[in-house]
Amino acid sequence: MTADQIAYMDIAAKAAVAAAGDYKQRLLAAMDIRPGHVVVDIGCGPGIDLRSLLAAGAEVVGVDRDPAMVAEARRRAPGADVRRGDAHALPVADASADRARTDRVLQHLAQPDAVLAEIFRALRPGGVVGLAEPDWDTLTVAADDVETSRGFARFTAGRVRNPTIGRELARMTVRAGFELRSVEAVPVVFRDFEIADRILGLSRNSARAVEAAQLREDVATSWLSGLADPRDPFLASFLCYLVTAERPARG
Ligand SMILES: C[S@@+](CC[C@H](N)C(=O)[O-])C[C@H]1O[C@@H](n2cnc3c(N)ncnc32)[C@H](O)[C@@H]1O
Repeated sequence: MTADQIAYMDIAAKAAVAAAGDYKQRLLAAMDIRPGHVVVDIGCGPGIDLRSLLAAGAEVVGVDRDPAMVAEARRRAPGADVRRGDAHALPVADASADRARTDRVLQHLAQPDAVLAEIFRALRPGGVVGLAEPDWDTLTVAADDVETSRGFARFTAGRVRNPTIGRELARMTVRAGFELRSVEAVPVVFRDFEIADRILGLSRNSARAVEAAQLREDVATSWLSGLADPRDPFLASFLCYLVTAERPARG
């Protein structure tokens, strides 16, 4: 992971927070973290959330498989115990955590069900997991050319390993043995073309769709220039699902 990618993750997190009306705070509140709780942030990235978990008085463990992310998270959150490891084999002892969270991580993973089983193992009975994941089939972009917006959204969703995981979280947690506590669908709304272009890859992914013969080049160019036209307000959105679930006290 390069410094550019870390900077990108910062921008993405800030933009997502601004666009979602602070979904991270909503997830934090839903997880009901108490001082002294051991909280594991899985796929912690550069440590954006570790500091707010520390501020809640928790003992914080961060886990990421990328060494550059681990180094950056250690630098930013010196009070946290940041471990290099894979979410599919968590470097966390059985029944040792009170809370665990993933934020925009399961969408990328090979076996998200196996990761939920790992989280179940690591949580003590009565412990709570908080999950935040998008559902890319809900991506919409306002444009005169609705068909191209649909084509772009389908193509973009197709590039994510688990594009509809947001809507599946509730079923997945119950299948993994958890009891569902809360489900929220938070709209992430972009009103700025430049930010949406960076996060949603309007230019990047439409160029890829053209290369893959999924969009015609002239149509994509005209769609993009319409989106960038300052005379029309820009609007794009998708849903991010927030789920909390508990390892049953006798689980
Ligand atoms: C989109 S970033 C999200 C970072 C952070 N959760 C946030 O909200 O800012 C995804 C993170 O998951 C990490 N990751 C991806 N696959 C992983 C795996 N199998 N085990 C642990 N971490 C993983 C990546 O290295 C990256 O830091």
